[in-house]
Amino acid sequence: WGQKGHRATAAIATNYLSGKAKKAIKEILEDETLVTVSTYADEIKSYKEYRKYSSWHYVNIEPRLSYADADKNEYGDLVMAIRTCEDVLTSDTSSREEKAFHLKLLVHFIGDLHQPLHLGHAADKGGNDFQVRWFKDGTNLHSVWDTKMIEGYGMSYSELSTNFGKVTKKEFKMFTSGDLLSWVSEGQKLADEVYSSAEIGEELGYRYSADYMSLVTQQLQKGGLRLAAVLNEIFD
Ligand code: ADE
Ligand code: ZN
Ligand code: ZN
Repeated sequence: WGQKGHRATAAIATNYLSGKAKKAIKEILEDETLVTVSTYADEIKSYKEYRKYSSWHYVNIEPRLSYADADKNEYGDLVMAIRTCEDVLTSDTSSREEKAFHLKLLVHFIGDLHQPLHLGHAADKGGNDFQVRWFKDGTNLHSVWDTKMIEGYGMSYSELSTNFGKVTKKEFKMFTSGDLLSWVSEGQKLADEVYSSAEIGEELGYRYSADYMSLVTQQLQKGGLRLAAVLNEIFD
């Protein structure tokens, strides 16, 4: 996602943290919040010493393969990244600085896990090479899903989080059930749906954004709720 998607995800998560998780997160992040750190993993992309994290934002799984059977990116992928962050955060030998760095990344990566095209095909770089038009402008399908539709809805991240982030206890349990690999295979199926939603060179606009609004907002909601569940599990 772009900034707004990550901030909305983090804002939703904040409302479902346990008291213990809130306290632990405050001790690690000090003056920052889940919302302010949610875009950190993108901000460091331009520094060459952080370039080794660039493949951590996505996982390319060939159609009909499961993560376990797929070829792995030698530089790491989204699944490995999330596991690494969880390991650092649960280890009692990690320093506060190491925990802060990996918590910032984890908040971002659980968000990216819910953008279907971050689980897309290697051949077109998760839709980055799938050219389309957004109204009259040339862009690609990945960018439509990261930012164009969300910006077009005309809501702030906090409006997105209040409009789509409220669920009952029962719904919270339902949406956060399953493990990391079940969330990956769910996202892979959504990626198939997104790939079949457009043709190369097609002009997308109001109609497309309206058709996929409920999927976009559902994914922001699931990302937020699951981020809270992951953090509650780590810190409780
Ligand atoms: N961003 C850059 N490369 C990507 C890929 N292969 N899949 C998804 N997102 C990406
Ligand atoms: Zn993206
Ligand atoms: Zn990212």
